[in-house]
Order: sequence, then C-alpha cells, then structure tokens
Amino acid sequence: MSSPLSDVELLAAADAAAERAYAPYSGFQVGCAVLTREGRVVEGVNVENAAYPLGVCAERTAFSRAIVEGYRPGDFIAAAITASPCGGCRQWLHEMGVERVVFRNGGRVVTMTTDELLPESFDSSNL
Ligand code: THU
Repeated sequence: MSSPLSDVELLAAADAAAERAYAPYSGFQVGCAVLTREGRVVEGVNVENAAYPLGVCAERTAFSRAIVEGYRPGDFIAAAITASPCGGCRQWLHEMGVERVVFRNGGRVVTMTTDELLPESFDSSNL
C-alpha cells in the first residue's frame, strides 16, 4: 500500500487545483484538496458567477464532489485550502467531520481542527 499523502503534498494538490478556479470577478483563485480515509484526493475550486452571491467556494465544490462520489461525513482525514476558510466553509468543514484543516493564511501554513475553526458550532445535535 502506498503511504498516505502528507499535509504538504495535499496543500500542493490544492495549489495545483487553484490554477483551474473560475474566478473572473474577484481574480482570487482558491483550491481545496480533501484526503479521504482510503487515500483518495478530491479537489475543488471556487466557481464564481456574474450574479456575485451565486459563486461557490472551493471547499464546497470539493465536498460536493466527494458527496456525489459516495463519500459521507467522517470519511475525510484532512482538507487543504489555499486560503483561510470563510465562515460558511468552516460550517461545511465541521459538518463533514474533517479531522484536520491545513490552510495558507498570509505567509503562514496553519493546521487546525474544525472545533478550533468554529467553536460552539451549530450542528445536528442542536436540531
Ligand atoms: N473563497 C473560497 O473559495 N473559499 C473560502 O473559504 C474563502 C473565499 C472564494 C470565494 C470567492 O470566489 C473568492 O474566494 C473571493 O472571495
């Protein structure tokens, strides 16, 4: 069996994906690479729209793609993102039960849990 991808490699996959972002309005290209427990990498990019609020973040396209492929919350070891995740995406990351989130913020690479990213979060236990 091949060794699991390192966080550095996963972030490199997110960087490569970001090149394929569709961000003609902001010019801010974001990539996200998600590592599944079985070692698959699922990538996403931000996809913008002329009706600005309809744009979708890279994290959400990555996880939506993974869900379509049959993955479910809890199936994800790590998510690497080329930018600091927005508030809404922190909620998504929490829902997906990712063990750790690695992202660029300024010149730094930060690793956090979803609880650290979104403390006292709203989830299914609140319903
Ligand atoms: N963006 C993401 O893709 N993920 C985030 O977590 C932060 C923001 C995108 C949305 C928009 O296309 C662009 O970055 C500028 O906000």
